[in-house]
Amino acid sequence: MKRNIKLLVILSTVVFGAGVLLRGHIAEAQTQNPPAQVVTAGQKYKNIKVLTDMPADQLGRVMNLWSASLGVDCDFCHVTADFSKDDKRPKATAREMIKMVMNINKDNFNNRPRVTCNSCHNGHMEPRPVPALDVIPEPEERPAQPTTKPTGDQIFDKYVEAVGGKDKIDKITSIVETGTRTERDGKEVEQETRYYDKGKYALKTVYPQATLTEMFDGSAPMKFGRQPITLRPDEQEQIKREAAMFSPASLKAAYTKVDFLGVDKIDGRLMNILAGTTAANQRERLYFDAETGLLVRRTMSSQTMFGTFPLQVDYSDYKAFGGVKLPTTIKYAMPNLMWTRRITSVKVNVPVEASVFQAPAAPAGGSDE
Ligand code: HEC
Ligand code: HEC
Repeated sequence: MKRNIKLLVILSTVVFGAGVLLRGHIAEAQTQNPPAQVVTAGQKYKNIKVLTDMPADQLGRVMNLWSASLGVDCDFCHVTADFSKDDKRPKATAREMIKMVMNINKDNFNNRPRVTCNSCHNGHMEPRPVPALDVIPEPEERPAQPTTKPTGDQIFDKYVEAVGGKDKIDKITSIVETGTRTERDGKEVEQETRYYDKGKYALKTVYPQATLTEMFDGSAPMKFGRQPITLRPDEQEQIKREAAMFSPASLKAAYTKVDFLGVDKIDGRLMNILAGTTAANQRERLYFDAETGLLVRRTMSSQTMFGTFPLQVDYSDYKAFGGVKLPTTIKYAMPNLMWTRRITSVKVNVPVEASVFQAPAAPAGGSDE
């Protein structure tokens, strides 16, 4: 069950029961265009008493935010065979807490989600009203900032050089990369293949229940389980970024505006930090190792009624393939969800079948009902 829940939430929807996996989305996902009117949680889900007006597409993120804020899993509040049931006490307590949090923000912060579950719970089931005595927080030290700020272009240029240089990058037109995806528990491991061909990108992750496909054919990013999955603009943007990572010289073009934010440290190493604004007017942060020039981290976030939902991607173990360095360990982290991609084989300039970038055919019978 746990595996199902995780997969579901990754799909940014929530459906339940082993047999009906991936089904809940179907009704609204028949079309690639997002509905003109916002579907609310109250409309989409069975037993919503407080979050009635919240956009339904926030529910998956909000549930993960709550779980991470309290340091619990979904089953702390839910009977996971049917999430609409009210059999567990903490679910009732949570409803009271939601009302309290909404009132605090309404009365004090102009309805902006400044106070969140995490403000008090901070990863614990029970908030800690008394400060700890045994932990004396170390003052945060920010490394000395450069007197002459480097430009975004200089940092991107150094990155392109670091991975092998534009000439070598230009010689690579296609990549087929295979590896594994390990879930947070370290036990659940899925097979993954990623394809890149002249700007087109596809990812196939094989789960026991279904193969998940993510693709970007150069125009609109798409995602499929057994059926098409509706994507929010920020999710579409992320798929485009995965594609751009395969042609490092074009990463810069993913941003309409780039600002140098300063230097900071990750694991003791000095990083140059850039803020990039995307075409969808979202901000991302890019952390480049100041010495090697390589991209080490990318962070971004989306907003919900219960605060910011962050996403962090860490790139490491760069190795050269066809003269161009690619990260072979990629770690994804968001509230309550974490997985690691380990690349085991990379083939460059091999033919990629066009069918890889085509939408999968609808399953026979056309329905999972
Ligand atoms: C702290 C308690 C809590 C945790 C943890 C929690 N939920 Fe919820 N969940 C709720 C409450 C409360 C509601 C109902 C909200 C309302 O009535 O407005 C709800 C509603 C739902 C619904 C809508 C069900 C329906 O059809 O009415 C789904 C689906 C759901 N949660 C999934 C999850 C998943 C998946 C997780 C784990 C990632 C999770 N929840 C974690 C408290 C929780
Ligand atoms: C202003 C501080 C504050 C905020 C914000 C807050 N809580 Fe709480 N929460 C508490 C306190 C204090 C308790 C313990 C109450 C007690 O012991 O009687 C608690 C208890 C709970 C419990 C019961 C835990 C158990 O042990 O059974 C749940 C569930 C819960 N909170 C969920 C939430 C959720 C979900 C949010 C965000 C929507 C939230 N809380 C936001 C202060 C807060």
